Amino acid sequence: MAIVGSGPSGAFLAARLLDEEAASFDVDLIDRQATPWGLVRGGVAPDHPRIKTVARRFEAVLDSGRCRFLGGVEVGRDVEHADLQRWYHAVVYATGCPDARSLGLPGENLAGCHPATDFVSWYNGDPAFRDRTFDLSGDRAVIVGNGNVALDCARMLLLPPDELSGTDIADHALEALSESRIREVVVLGRRGAEHAAFTTPELKALTSRFGVTMPRDELAIDPSFNTTQPGHRAVRNMKVLRGVARAAPTEAERRIVLRFLVSPVEILGEDGRVRGLRLARNELHRGKHRAILARPTDATEELDASLVMSAIGFRGRPVPGVPFDERRSLIPNMAGRVTGDPEAAARTYVSGWIKRGPSGVIGTNKLCAYDTATLVIEDALAGQLDHEGVLDADAVRERLEQGGARIVDTGGWRAIDAAETRAGADEGRPRRKLTDRDELLAAAGA
Ligand SMILES: Cc1cc2nc3c(=O)[nH]c(=O)nc-3n(C[C@H](O)[C@H](O)[C@H](O)COP(=O)(O)OP(=O)(O)OC[C@H]3O[C@@H](n4cnc5c(N)ncnc54)[C@H](O)[C@@H]3O)c2cc1C
Ligand SMILES: NC(=O)c1ccc[n+]([C@@H]2O[C@H](COP(=O)([O-])OP(=O)(O)OC[C@H]3O[C@@H](n4cnc5c(N)ncnc54)[C@H](OP(=O)(O)O)[C@@H]3O)[C@@H](O)[C@H]2O)c1
Repeated sequence: MAIVGSGPSGAFLAARLLDEEAASFDVDLIDRQATPWGLVRGGVAPDHPRIKTVARRFEAVLDSGRCRFLGGVEVGRDVEHADLQRWYHAVVYATGCPDARSLGLPGENLAGCHPATDFVSWYNGDPAFRDRTFDLSGDRAVIVGNGNVALDCARMLLLPPDELSGTDIADHALEALSESRIREVVVLGRRGAEHAAFTTPELKALTSRFGVTMPRDELAIDPSFNTTQPGHRAVRNMKVLRGVARAAPTEAERRIVLRFLVSPVEILGEDGRVRGLRLARNELHRGKHRAILARPTDATEELDASLVMSAIGFRGRPVPGVPFDERRSLIPNMAGRVTGDPEAAARTYVSGWIKRGPSGVIGTNKLCAYDTATLVIEDALAGQLDHEGVLDADAVRERLEQGGARIVDTGGWRAIDAAETRAGADEGRPRRKLTDRDELLAAAGA
């Protein structure tokens, strides 16, 4: 089996296949990064070390000896989908949704306006983002979007250096954020407070650490909002947000302002740099399938800011040769079996965000991966994965290297891991990430 993508959905799938007693699988976990575990390393915020401990369960998959990591191999660049289809019994794409959705507003290309995912990749040490710069010289930053990524970024922008220095944040980001002058982050939700996508623990992580305020009149609640489901995220969020709205103006040095029912209509600039945003007040209306949507009214205001980030969700990226649904930005599939051109879809499956879209926490991908594993096992047992041309492990590696890939294998990753944790231990940190591709390859002995 080739699993392309070693994030949670690929790693959970590998674990499930290796556990299967009715069939015996050997798995290659292929990733374009030199390091495994996808957004567990590259997305989860550095101040959330407990969440990253899921990686220990994934390491056990590599310990099994029947699953090898092949890092530094990008499908579509270093190897073609058709090659993988030939060399392996089956291929599963677990490639996530790495691209940011854009606001599509005038001024979005001004210096100082970034997709939040660039900031995330930068502070988490993705080698491709280490040279990015973020203007942290102003007092106020604005984040568009009301999901957990928006709250992660708000927290990371405001956490004082002593709360970051003991984490695995990339050194370059620690240095830059230590000198940041940002003291206020405004988070913009286009719909009402009760429609916010963030979860209550993430909201409380803000209210417990910073001065959080919101304009009282923006707490207006949609009359159809159901307050009778105590376990519902929105009900729990509203309990916290009512407290925020009642609170007196904050004297805290580091502040977060939660705004609702507002959307940017233009990013304002001066000399090519962001100077603020024009916001429209929104009203809610019922769209298709009775969905509650926001639309701008004529009421507008200007908000000064030197840094703007959009955290409004993600898109999947097509892999050359693999069917792709442009509209939904996913690999088209029926419950995990790829659909579309029959030749390209043969013995090809999907798991995780690229299967169902960019939402859900790490654990959500476990069920999703298990569903896909069930199909793979069914097809394997039915003999539907047998075909001519399957290569053994050494021959696959040889072909990949002939194609120019500089592979970081399981041993290489273990060497990187050891080097990072050793360097981190000297400073009381869980790890000190290597963020330069050549340094990673050197540490891996690749
Ligand atoms: C910023 C951020 C923070 C998050 N924080 C949390 C959190 O604190 N707690 C939580 O439970 N959930 C969190 N999540 C959600 C969680 O990370 C996702 O649910 C999960 O990572 C999705 O798993 P995945 O395997 O589908 O994708 P990913 O984790 O994105 O993994 C995809 C993998 O595929 C590889 N890949 C992509 N294309 C190719 C290719 N062509 N060739 C080879 N390899 C390729 C990538 O390098 C990557 O390793 C967060 C998400 C984001 C964006
Ligand atoms: N700590 C954690 O557990 C953690 C951390 C980070 C991420 N995650 C998970 O990862 C997944 C992805 O998170 P996410 O924050 O990227 O996505 P998300 O939860 O889907 O939130 C996206 C937000 O962007 C808003 N939005 C979309 N288009 C917009 C536009 N044009 N203008 C203004 N706002 C717009 C959405 O508003 P509407 O609702 O109006 O569409 C929504 O509030 C989620 O499941 C999240 O829970 C978890």
